[in-house]
Amino acid sequence: MSQPAERPADTASVPSASPSSPAGDAWKEPHIYDTQMSIAWQFEYFMSQEKLENLYRKAKESQWNADTELDWSIEIDPSKPLLDDQLSGLMRLSIIKRLSQSQRNEFSAHFAAQMLSQFLHGEQGALMTSAAVTHAVPDYDAKLYAATQTMDEARHVEVYDRYIKKLAITYPISPWLKELIDATLSSGHYIKIMIGMNMVVEGLALAAFHNMRRQTTCPLLRDLTGYVMRDEARHVAFGNVYLHKVIEQLHPDDREDIAQFTFEAVKGMSDSQGGPDGSKPRKVDPGFVAVLHHCGIDPKDFMASIREAGAAGFNAKLPPGHIHSFKDLMMPALVRVGAITDRSRELYAKEGIPIWEDTSVLESMEDGATGDIVMPEA
Ligand SMILES: [Fe+2]
Ligand SMILES: [Fe+2]
Repeated sequence: MSQPAERPADTASVPSASPSSPAGDAWKEPHIYDTQMSIAWQFEYFMSQEKLENLYRKAKESQWNADTELDWSIEIDPSKPLLDDQLSGLMRLSIIKRLSQSQRNEFSAHFAAQMLSQFLHGEQGALMTSAAVTHAVPDYDAKLYAATQTMDEARHVEVYDRYIKKLAITYPISPWLKELIDATLSSGHYIKIMIGMNMVVEGLALAAFHNMRRQTTCPLLRDLTGYVMRDEARHVAFGNVYLHKVIEQLHPDDREDIAQFTFEAVKGMSDSQGGPDGSKPRKVDPGFVAVLHHCGIDPKDFMASIREAGAAGFNAKLPPGHIHSFKDLMMPALVRVGAITDRSRELYAKEGIPIWEDTSVLESMEDGATGDIVMPEA
């Protein structure tokens, strides 16, 4: 990686007030609640797991500073679409294609702002889960690794906040994402926290970042997302390489408890995405509805356009190089760590959620020394 000269932060283009929110401001009230959390001191100060030690070393070597590594002087031109029409699924819907160019640009900016707002809020959730894992995880090497993740997540909150302030549009967190992160934070056990965040939320986020990096026309957003994605690949790897040993050592009843939590987290994520293959109706997200209203699009017409595209095999036409996060990354990893049991398999079957067990794609992307995942170049 080249070392660019230090660049001053572009504070001149950053509005001092919060970016405006077409969904109103009520959602910005702080949300405070209590959780029960176990704390683990560890007095055996030695690294006992080679992959985790390597991952920790890699995390230290890969720290980056958003002030100096990214060019914040890049302006966002609102007259140009933020997402490439050819690469973005939604921009290819007939209802969007029928809009005038300026309306399409407006939709593109608000749709991207809504997605980036989910990245921002999700990163704050990850900041809290990784700090919680640092407290609670009993192994020394895992504790040190979780601390590096906590710093990574602070940086991710920082960069998405700075980018959204340049865009000057912000949207609330999706209810399903808030629900899943709250259930994860409230679960009281580091294994559940790591499954909910490192394996489920971050497993899917990795694909979302990959898509955003491919689709965006903004060089700053492309660079920023590339840096974030490399950190996220390590966070997913942490869950993948560490949890197998700890789940294996659990009492069978506790293992079932973990399997139940895993099922609920996967189901929540699956429902929010329109099922594991995206073919079912997605949960209505009030933030996205606000995007449609802002752009003068009737949500009913929009849903009809989605259904029409689905009937035409829209979801089946994945772009080349596309990684199916459920099928290729998340489910095989959950099976491999032992978070899916014979009993919980029946729950997945009842919900129509397939259990993909083939780890070949996942393994082909993993660094053998660390478990780090190398995503294809955009
Ligand atoms: Fe992150
Ligand atoms: Fe992360």
